[in-house]
Amino acid sequence: MKKLIIANWKMNPKSFKEAEKLVLAISKTKATQHVVICPPFVYLSLLKTKLELGAQDMFWQNNGAFTGQVSAEMLKQFKVKYAIIGHSERRALGETDNEVNLKVKAALANKITPVLCVGYGLSHDMADEEVMQHLQNQLEAALYAVDPKKVIVAYEPVWAISTGDPYKTKNIENPDHAERICMFVRIKFKVAKVLYGGSSNALNAQSFLERQIDGLLVGGASLKAEEFNQIITIKI
Ligand code: 13P
Repeated sequence: MKKLIIANWKMNPKSFKEAEKLVLAISKTKATQHVVICPPFVYLSLLKTKLELGAQDMFWQNNGAFTGQVSAEMLKQFKVKYAIIGHSERRALGETDNEVNLKVKAALANKITPVLCVGYGLSHDMADEEVMQHLQNQLEAALYAVDPKKVIVAYEPVWAISTGDPYKTKNIENPDHAERICMFVRIKFKVAKVLYGGSSNALNAQSFLERQIDGLLVGGASLKAEEFNQIITIKI
């Protein structure tokens, strides 16, 4: 079974020209894994590509007086199949579990697959049990009145995001830790898939993908065509 590799470009690249170049380089590659690209909203509707697309966020209302927001109904007109919801960088700006739940429901109502991000811990020393307890609270809220089988979860340890090296920061082997947490989420919440996200790159991707982890949510490494192409052509 193919693993799911989702590129989260965040607020990058700086120009649409670069975005076009990046998407072209990725689409020319014969991927062995299932690939989804999540560009910023403004590029999303302009990119001409056969690659599957996802949004980095969405609002829970379909339309109305909500300045600055973009709805699932709008996104699906641009062939958006996935939406990242509840990313730790959005939660850090104040997004609540209740808002995350409303967004997950709105995505599903519009046939967009939510990629629900959960994660905890600014310190890598936190015991797995403590992490699991926090994730359980986040997931119980985010999945309230939701069919979990339609939801993809991405586990993002906050301490590993954008550090460039997920090994150094964890005193145990991160892939083992990630696998334990992903299995906990899959078994306890019966969601469709559980991905790992946090400084995954061409050097470490295989060590995550060969475990019981359904794929990767890739940030920084998804902006470098050559490196991302190495990840999506991995053979497991
Ligand atoms: P990095 O891969 O840059 O650490 O980002 C992870 C992430 O936040 C993916 O959404």
